[in-house]
Amino acid sequence: MDPSKVDAVVLVGGKGTRLRPLTVSAAKPMLPTAGLPFLTHLLSRIAEAGIEHVILGTSFKAATFENEFGDGSKLGLQIEYVVEDHPMGTGGGIANVIPKLRNDIVMVFNGDVLSGMDLRQMLASHHESQADLTLHLVRVSDPRAFGCVPTDADGRVEAFLEKTEDPPSDQINAGTYIFNRDVLDQIPRGREVSVEREVFPALLADGVKVCGYVDSSYWRDMGTPEDFVRGSADLVRGLAPSPALGGRRGESLVHDGASVSPGAVLVGGTVVGRGAEIGPGVRLDGAVIFDGAHIEAGSVVERSIIGAGARIGPRALLRDAIIGDGANIGARCELLRGARVWPGVVIPDCGVRYSSDI
Ligand code: GDD
Ligand code: MG
Repeated sequence: MDPSKVDAVVLVGGKGTRLRPLTVSAAKPMLPTAGLPFLTHLLSRIAEAGIEHVILGTSFKAATFENEFGDGSKLGLQIEYVVEDHPMGTGGGIANVIPKLRNDIVMVFNGDVLSGMDLRQMLASHHESQADLTLHLVRVSDPRAFGCVPTDADGRVEAFLEKTEDPPSDQINAGTYIFNRDVLDQIPRGREVSVEREVFPALLADGVKVCGYVDSSYWRDMGTPEDFVRGSADLVRGLAPSPALGGRRGESLVHDGASVSPGAVLVGGTVVGRGAEIGPGVRLDGAVIFDGAHIEAGSVVERSIIGAGARIGPRALLRDAIIGDGANIGARCELLRGARVWPGVVIPDCGVRYSSDI
């Protein structure tokens, strides 16, 4: 199947609630990941596969996408934008782009997935099975947070069970779909629709041929802080593929204009953004430091995200934390286990940590 005869649709209209407060100021797919807006990694994969025409289904912070990607020519793509005034759900978002489609095969992507799945192979599988709809499926250890998608011995999808407490299989919807164009006309128009909760079950009930494409390459939904930090580190270390990063891989990635003092230790796939300053004796392990943040002497930052322009005072300890843009964390503060600090918040210096002072 010729990928240039395929339209790509990327759903990027979600609010990214689980990544607050970072998504107070930016849409989830625009958050810097290994130094690039996350969506760049997905778009570069789409371009690498030979797909040329991409439609972004946007809603929340819609303008920021067009400001960054424009007509797509820098990535070798032709990108168009469709904006939902109110989020129409994943199904509504797909139905909304129908007037812009140019081809009979449409590949739809959740815009927050980091994956190494071979798009051409999935297209070939769709063609060979003569499916009306093919779903990319992966196996995960805890399927409850996803759409559970059992298949039969021939790879035909038997059911679609979105976020159930007791999923019958560990095989889940990985968030990439190939639709034959005429199937899209069956999505209800003019109202909010969930493709997972409403459209897929209805298509299965109508006997539409829905096949699974099961794949075991790298896969991660970047929707939670833990996954965002892991995905970013995996990109930096080269465990997650991205044509946008080329060969720049290692234990850490320090961007132009950042300064790292001698004696600072950067490991675990840490990324340091443009203009950030890392003081002496700082230890960054799996840390995501956005542009212009300052980490002062002797601080330790593990598996945490530090927003743009935030300041972390000397000898602080941050583990599994998210610090919003421009926040100011005082000396010796400890922020652990999922702590979140909202943008601009100031936390004063904390008491002396005797355990480490003695
Ligand atoms: N245009 C548009 N409009 N896009 C939307 C809307 C909307 O109203 N709501 C969500 N999206 C986009 C999000 O921006 C995201 O890129 C994608 O649709 C999926 O939404 P999430 O909010 O990230 O869903 P999820 O992660 O809980 O679950 C989905 O993804 C899992 C795999 O990553 C489902 O598709 C699950 O079935 C699946 O297993
Ligand atoms: Mg998601």
